[in-house]
Amino acid sequence: MAKKSRVVIIGAGAVGSTTAFTLLLRNRMDELVLIDANHKKAVGDALDMNHGMPFLGGAKLWAGTYEDCAEADIIVITAGAAQREGETRVDLLKRNAAIFDSIITEVTKVNSHGILLIASNPVDIMSYLSLKKSNWPVNRVIGSGTLLDSARFRYLIGEKLDLDPRSVHGHIVGEHGDSELPLWSLANVAGAKLSLDEADKLEIFENTRDAAYQIISAKGATYYAIALALDRIITAILRDEGAVLNVSTLLQDYHGISNVFLGVPCIVDRTGVREVMDIQITEEEKALLHRSADKLKGLIESIGL
Ligand code: 2OP
Repeated sequence: MAKKSRVVIIGAGAVGSTTAFTLLLRNRMDELVLIDANHKKAVGDALDMNHGMPFLGGAKLWAGTYEDCAEADIIVITAGAAQREGETRVDLLKRNAAIFDSIITEVTKVNSHGILLIASNPVDIMSYLSLKKSNWPVNRVIGSGTLLDSARFRYLIGEKLDLDPRSVHGHIVGEHGDSELPLWSLANVAGAKLSLDEADKLEIFENTRDAAYQIISAKGATYYAIALALDRIITAILRDEGAVLNVSTLLQDYHGISNVFLGVPCIVDRTGVREVMDIQITEEEKALLHRSADKLKGLIESIGL
């Protein structure tokens, strides 16, 4: 009998539970486990979703413990303190670093073969910390990176040009946060450059970068689009797709940048990040990417990681 595919989600907050529901709706795996420091919350979510099973695709779902990570193909971490109104993702750093330390210790006690997919913020630093703490190969520690930002970017370009966002190709790279940047030099529809003026571009980029602030100020948290972005990464892994996704990975000599996790176009398959894409960017984009890398490196150093 073929081995069952198992995804474990650590953190049953808004992002974790919405991701679980998204994965179930799309029938992505055989087994799904929810783990939360507040076990009652995970039990409640599992019950609530299990009651929908007659309408779903037959996956098994339960509220579990770290023991359940042993058989996991992918361990998604969404746990940690969430961004409050007006707070940057970096403000969360110290609070979440401590939580991660214990989560990674528990996971790696029972699993050494899986893929860690990190979504908690600041995601690039949490991913770096997870890599160092787990000592797993670089390809198997992935941050959700700028996949969500790139989706926001494509959506906003699509709105402006009255086009389906799936037909818009565009990349946001760098930190998932305030120092991220758009690669306008690569943005296209069917290979054609976009007919946008500088004011349109600025507006689109600012709305992309500040989207989380807008949503958090309106309703306290973001969770639907990030859940879909996580679903996209998980599917690329489980189906061995070789999809090009802007996830966060440890860069080594990438346009002169090393030893920092940043969101860049990567090829994702069953092995995790199979390869970082070799892309051509302008000198201006390169300078901004370096600025983003330097900001994250400074933060990593500041907490002595
Ligand atoms: C987002 O970008 C808050 O990082 C989260 O929606």
